[in-house]
This record gives sequence, structure tokens and C-alpha cells, in this order.
Amino acid sequence: MSRSDFDAALRFDAGGRRFAGGIALCAAPVATLEAESTNFLSPEEAALLTARLAPRRRHSLLAGRRAAKLALRHVLPGTASRSVRILPGVLDQPVVSGGGAENLQVTLSHAGSLAVAVAHAEACPIGVDLDLPSPEHRAALFEQTSETERRLAAAALDVDEDRRLITLWCLKEALSKALRCGLTVPFGVLEIASLVREGQGVRAQFVNFGQYVGLGVCTAGPSFAVVMPRTVAWTLADGSDPMTTTAQWLAEAASRPPIPIRTAHPSGRAPVGTGPIEGLQVVVPAEGFEPPTP
Ligand SMILES: CC(C)(COP(=O)(O)OP(=O)(O)OC[C@H]1O[C@@H](n2cnc3c(N)ncnc32)[C@H](O)[C@@H]1OP(=O)(O)O)[C@@H](O)C(=O)NCCC(=O)NCCS
Repeated sequence: MSRSDFDAALRFDAGGRRFAGGIALCAAPVATLEAESTNFLSPEEAALLTARLAPRRRHSLLAGRRAAKLALRHVLPGTASRSVRILPGVLDQPVVSGGGAENLQVTLSHAGSLAVAVAHAEACPIGVDLDLPSPEHRAALFEQTSETERRLAAAALDVDEDRRLITLWCLKEALSKALRCGLTVPFGVLEIASLVREGQGVRAQFVNFGQYVGLGVCTAGPSFAVVMPRTVAWTLADGSDPMTTTAQWLAEAASRPPIPIRTAHPSGRAPVGTGPIEGLQVVVPAEGFEPPTP
């Protein structure tokens, strides 16, 4: 059976202070997400799915909330996913409330039909980003990187230029989420100072934010990056490396044959698109999927 959900418990160790967390990747097709949405969306989240949303945004909202709830269940075991709310804050950042969630947050990202989320303690700021290499955006991505960053990436990553550029982008966008500013600041503010190989990916330090570290990994599909305080080490609950595991999940999701993805709004009111959502596509699991713990 092919999986459409991947999730695992995390441990964050900040110099003796330990925090529980969770990481999840949602690769479920939009039809599955729609069908199961009442299992995992709170009424307030369901209200975000207005008729005015573009189909692609509807899909990303559903997949992102789904991934976030899967990640959160590792820190809120036994809590009904529907009773937890993840609503946009004043800066559009995801804010967790309800279901007994205290001092917990999530960071999430969507790319194509995938979404990734990390649940973490408020005390331990984290940012994630997932993005697909995009030859059509090569010039723009090139412009948003410094010569030093491109040189560092060429030395640290044995992949083509598009993948190096998107990995640099992911690291900076993940930093912008940890900082809650998003990409509203000049890109130079988020500049990478060093990039060294670590495991299957890279470890980055930042020119202006020495208190943070970035971890990035390229796959045959998207690149994934996470940014966390420099003093924090993270592992999966079984002691393994979360970056390696996430890369394996992404590879598994990417290895599936494509399926058509609906681009029309389920209400039928929104314009009907013609193509699939860009990037990775996934197959409907033959035997459905397990919803988060109700
Ligand atoms: C954060 C940002 C870089 C994400 O870009 P994106 O192309 O949507 O990319 P991703 O899919 O990787 O991430 C989206 C997620 O980032 C999160 N996010 C959005 N704004 C965020 C912020 N300021 N801080 C942290 N996370 C944020 C959200 O969870 C969002 O998913 P959701 O809307 O489904 O909950 C981009 O939205 C941005 O720069 N926002 C600026 C925030 C802002 O100033 N908003 C105006 C409010 S006044």
C-alpha cells in the first residue's frame, strides 16, 4: 500500500532543555483531503475554505492543515484533531490554539501537492520550507542570491544549479518563517554566511542571525529546509536524523505515478483549470489512509 501521510515524533534538545515535537509530510490527493476534512479541520479552519479560494490554494490549505495536525498529534496524543485550531496570525503566521495546546506552535510549507509541517514548543522557534526546483524561475532565484551563496552551494551540494538555487531559497524562507517576518524583508537580510555538508544535505549559518542554524536537503523532487536556534539539536524519537527521514519520505512520495488533480473548485463556481498542480503528483492510496486520532 502506498502511503500518503508520513509523520514521526521529534525531540528538540536545547542545552539540557528538552521539548517534544512532531514532523509530518502530507501527500494526499485533494479528493482524499476534501473527503476527510471534517476529521481534521476545526470549524474555524473549515471557514477559511471559502468559495473564493482558488483550487490550488484550497488544496494547499487542506494539505498544510492536514500535515500540521499529523505533526501536532505527537505532542497532543489523544486530542481530537478537530478540536485544535491553526489560524492565521496578524502576520499570516500559523497560530495554534484549542485542544489543550499550550505554548505549542507549528511551522508549515506547501509545494505542488505536498505539505510539510513541524510542531514545536513556542519556546523553541522553528521555520520550515519546501520548494520545487523551477527552471522557469532560475533568473529570479539567481538574482535573489549573492555570488558568495552560489559559490558556497556549488561547493557543498552535488546537484544541478536549479536544485542549488532552490535549496538556498528554502533555507532563507525557512529563516524568514522562524523570524515571523516572511519574505517581506530585503533578501540580503537573510543572507547565508556558510554552508557545509552534513549527512545527505547541508548546514547553513546566516550573516545577520548567528543565533540560528539552517539544515537543507535536496531530493529528486523538492528541496526541504528547517531553521532552528543554533543551540538546538533535533532527532526523531528513535534517535534517527529527521532530515534523512524527511528526504526518504519525499522520495517515496515522488516515486508514485501521477494522477489527475482536480483544479475546479468543489462548489463548481470557481473557474476550471486544465493542468495538474505543478510539481509532484501523488496517487490515491488504494486502501485510503488513516485519519489523525479522532
Ligand atoms: C511566509 C511566506 C514566505 C510563505 O510563502 P508561501 O509562498 O506561501 O510559501 P509556503 O507554502 O512555504 O508557506 C506558507 C505557510 O507559511 C506560513 N506563514 C505565512 N506567513 C508567515 C509568517 N509571517 N511567519 C511564519 N510563517 C508564515 C503559513 O502557515 C503558510 O501556510 P498557510 O497559509 O496555509 O497557513 C510568505 O507568505 C510571506 O512572505 N508572507 C509575508 C507575511 C506578511 O507580511 N503578511 C501580510 C500580513 S499583514
